[in-house]
Amino acid sequence: MPVRSDTAVLPGLEPLVSQALSAPECTAETASVDRLRLAAVPLVPEVRLVMAEDAIVLWARLEAEAGHVLPPPFWASAWTGGQGLARYILDHPDTVAGRHVLDVASGSGLVAIAAAIAGAAGVTANDIDPYSIAAINANAHANGVELTLSSSDLLDGDVDGVDVVLAGDALYHPSVAARMLPFFARVVANGARVLVGDPDRGHLAHDWLERVATYEVPMNGAPEDAQLHLTSVLKPRRDKVDDRRGRATRLRSEFHDCRTRE
Ligand SMILES: C[S@@+](CC[C@H](N)C(=O)[O-])C[C@H]1O[C@@H](n2cnc3c(N)ncnc32)[C@H](O)[C@@H]1O
Repeated sequence: MPVRSDTAVLPGLEPLVSQALSAPECTAETASVDRLRLAAVPLVPEVRLVMAEDAIVLWARLEAEAGHVLPPPFWASAWTGGQGLARYILDHPDTVAGRHVLDVASGSGLVAIAAAIAGAAGVTANDIDPYSIAAINANAHANGVELTLSSSDLLDGDVDGVDVVLAGDALYHPSVAARMLPFFARVVANGARVLVGDPDRGHLAHDWLERVATYEVPMNGAPEDAQLHLTSVLKPRRDKVDDRRGRATRLRSEFHDCRTRE
């Protein structure tokens, strides 16, 4: 499925992204709570992202521009789980270096960008929100990395040609976790590695995901994260995944949709 990664087709987004990229410093002209700004990620200062000054106000502005309801702008924050996973990848580049990586539920693209900086052979950033795809495109350019963008919903299938699947804060809602966890199990059963970044929002599979690292988050990434100060990186236990994977309901997923572009 082709993806549109250009901000122009998404009402209201293009001027906000352009302003954030061209005038990263806040001036009297650009100061407003519904703006985006380019800023370093607290736990991962190597990466700069276009982030919301206030995600709720930004959401209201984009909905007003679109004239209809939009999903929350999850892409406009660096989520706590994604920050921990991106930190881990940059501190342990061997986990992705020279490998083909899929960052599922990519949001801003933070984890995908970290994987590209750490030397992955190729990185696909996947998210079903078209605003997210546009934000990942902008953030990839801001960080000087090339990514493949995918807007397909991959969770009910298997993926081919991937060595490592990364998922930052992908277990944020019970309905998403209910599909994400069997997807992880199938990925592992098919021979790839999975690394999950999660601050434990209550949807973790503690019986078959084991911690490999825990980080203190210096500043809250998303408004929902006000009470979260610790985040973990976890991996599935291979000896436990077999009865967790369910059945793929579709044939293998095609996810190489398009490359990041100006
Ligand atoms: C909490 S955000 C995390 C974003 C990013 N990984 C981070 O850590 O900052 C979760 C993201 O999952 C995406 N998402 C939800 N369901 C999805 C699906 N079936 N496939 C891909 N992405 C999905 C949402 O659009 C959202 O951007």
